[in-house]
Amino acid sequence: MTLNDLFPKTARFGADGLITIAGVDLNLLADTYGTPLYLYDASTINGSYSLLTELLKQNYSGKAQIAYASKAYLSLKFAKKLARTDASIDVVSLSELEIALEAGFPPERIHLHGNNKSREEIHSAIANRIGSIVIDSTDELEFVEAICEGMQVRQKIWLRINPNIAVNTHKAVQTGHGASKFGIEAANGEAEHVIRLALKSESLHLTGIHTHLGSQIFHPAEFGQAVVAMLELGKTAGFHPDVVCPGGGWGVPYTIDDPFIDPNEWIATISKAATDWCRTENCPLPELVIEPGRFMVARSGVALYRVGSTKQSQNGDWIAAVDGGMADNPRVALYGSKYEAMLVGDGSKRPVETMRLVGRFCESGDELIPAITMPRLQRGDLIAIPVSGAYQLSMASNYNLADRPCVLWVENGAVEVLQRREHAARSDWWQGE
Ligand code: LLP
Repeated sequence: MTLNDLFPKTARFGADGLITIAGVDLNLLADTYGTPLYLYDASTINGSYSLLTELLKQNYSGKAQIAYASKAYLSLKFAKKLARTDASIDVVSLSELEIALEAGFPPERIHLHGNNKSREEIHSAIANRIGSIVIDSTDELEFVEAICEGMQVRQKIWLRINPNIAVNTHKAVQTGHGASKFGIEAANGEAEHVIRLALKSESLHLTGIHTHLGSQIFHPAEFGQAVVAMLELGKTAGFHPDVVCPGGGWGVPYTIDDPFIDPNEWIATISKAATDWCRTENCPLPELVIEPGRFMVARSGVALYRVGSTKQSQNGDWIAAVDGGMADNPRVALYGSKYEAMLVGDGSKRPVETMRLVGRFCESGDELIPAITMPRLQRGDLIAIPVSGAYQLSMASNYNLADRPCVLWVENGAVEVLQRREHAARSDWWQGE
């Protein structure tokens, strides 16, 4: 894996250090739209989606569905692009639901997740006839059932179970282990009990079992175990699901030292687990639903920053500060996530230096890359950070009243603004309106 491979598929690197993505020059974009600037490359996203579609076709003879986990990144114009494919979408809040509907996702292709959905969210999901509400607890089953009774409708649901499978990833993004706040315990009989309750309900129509093990996972075996755990649980409770969903979570490399594990390992493993189990039990194949977030969008996104102040600290470290940081990308401060960066321009005549790339926000935790070796940066340089498409803008804040950045969509030499740069001080929320 080289640094170039981390960039979107359409990235081209000139000998002069200039970079184009989808045929568009990054310097020109930064000059036109200002920095920090985020862009999404259409081909890379479409490529990830087509690849997963193809892998499901090759590996699984039953029905399959790809539900984009919109928490990775969502905006209305972006959602409209995705809605043109046959992708489904996973939403976890009223606004994600509203955007999915407004973007044109057919309601039956929308699934509502979350460990503490509000009455308003549930009501809206039911009123809009969305595909499924994913029940996260016994308490929620009763809550949703009562709302359905009040509305006199029958709503499709899936149950999210906790299969007690720990995966090797950062603890903040492990979700299928015993102590997780997500899902209904499979081990102590609770999930079985809830399935029986749901099957008896007149206003709930149980169609699926779901689990999500965590995020940034590179080992397929646990996904296979999860599929078997869901099917076995159903069998114990006398229920063969129409839908089995082992969630999302397939990992992507952020640095040249990270592994790239072929997603076929993920898809082949879950497909085989379901197929083998159903063959042995002589049951029909359930529809297999996957919920990729990061795998769909991470590599398509690039963050561009302008270098401002540079200095040498007391201990001799070179420090270069950029015009963004933890407000647009809190992942480094939250999880110690690692990134690479590239100078957009000719650095060949400069000394190579190991530097700390820091942000402009008011705390020392605001570092983008604690140590990076590259041509010594100076004021005015443009730098590009690849693999910036997932969980950066969707977790961005207005810390220090930072304006959230402009976001572009680049496709075949054309540029479209997905989101204009915010002007925080003038926004309704900060104005108190
Ligand atoms: N399905 C469910 C129910 C989820 O909760 C998630 C992510 C996904 C699918 C998609 O997972 P992915 O394919 O993107 O790994 N903020 C963290 C990641 C949190 C993931 C939360 N759930 C980060 O920046 O790494």
